[in-house]
Amino acid sequence: MVVPAGGLGTRFLPATKAMPKEMVPVGNRPSIQWGIEEAVASGIKRAVIVTAPGKELIKAHFAPDPGLEATLRRRGADDLAERVREISRLCQMEFVEQPEPLGLGHAVWCAAPHVRGEEAVGVMLPDDLFAGSPPLLGQLIDVYQKEGCTVLALRRCAKEAISRYGVAAVEGEGPVFRVLDVVEKPAPEDAPSDLALMGRYVLTPEVIAELETTSAGAGGEIQLTDAIRCLAPRGAVVGLEFTGRLLDVGTLESWLSTNAEIVWRDPELGPMLRSRIQELELEQA
Ligand code: G1P
Repeated sequence: MVVPAGGLGTRFLPATKAMPKEMVPVGNRPSIQWGIEEAVASGIKRAVIVTAPGKELIKAHFAPDPGLEATLRRRGADDLAERVREISRLCQMEFVEQPEPLGLGHAVWCAAPHVRGEEAVGVMLPDDLFAGSPPLLGQLIDVYQKEGCTVLALRRCAKEAISRYGVAAVEGEGPVFRVLDVVEKPAPEDAPSDLALMGRYVLTPEVIAELETTSAGAGGEIQLTDAIRCLAPRGAVVGLEFTGRLLDVGTLESWLSTNAEIVWRDPELGPMLRSRIQELELEQA
C-alpha cells in the first residue's frame, strides 16, 4: 500500500509549520496512525509512506523505541509500553521522499519502485479517517478480487462541494459501477455526476505506468485522477459506493469536528469531554 504524506499542510498553518499535518493528533494518536490501522484491518502487510523533506517525524513515530518502552516498564506503565511497541509492529513500513510537492499522482509515482511487481496496490490518503465496518480499503480489495481491475471509492457529494474532488462518470446500478471517465476538481456545472472520489484506491500496475507520462493537470499538479482517466475508456476501472462514513481531518474546522466526534465516542475520554462541555455551558449561562 502507498500512503501519500508529502503535502505541505497549508490549510492547517500555523499548527503545521514544523509538524507534519499527518502527525496532528485525532483522539490519542496521530491522524496517519488511524489510516495505517484501517489498512492493517484490511489485510495490508506493507506500507510505503511517501513523505517530504522536513517530515521525518512520521518515520520517527513508527520506529521502535526500546528506550521509551524500558522507561515506561520501569515505571510500571506496562500498558502504555505495550501501546508504544504496537505502533512499530503494525506492519512493515518503508519511507520514500517526494522531493517537491508536484501533486498526488507524482507522490504515488515516487513510490513506484517500491511496489514494482505487485499485482495491484492500495492507496490511502490519510486526510480522511474511516468510521465503519468493514474497513474501507478492505471493501475496495474485495471488489478488486472479483473485478480484477482498478477500484475507486465513491461517495455522493453535494453540488456546492463537488469541485473539491475528483468526480466519476459511471454506468450501472451500483454499488459497484463501471467508471467511464474521471475529472479532477470540475466546476459544479461540469461535474459528470455527484459521485466523488474519496481517498482510497486499488490501482493496477497500468495506472502506475501511466503516471510515468502524466503531465500537470488541475491546479498545475500531476493528478492521479488523470492517470486513471486514461484507463477508464478501456473498461479497466470500477467504483464502489461504499458503506460507512469518512471523517475529514484536512482542515482546522473538519479536524475539530472529527476530534469532537471521536473523543465523544471514546469510552475513556468521552465522559470527560461531556462533563467539561456541561461546565462551560453553566459558566456561560
Ligand atoms: C485528492 C484527489 C481527488 C480526491 C480527493 C479526496 O484531492 O486528487 O481526486 O477526490 O483527494 O479527498 P486533494 O484533496 O488532495 O486535493
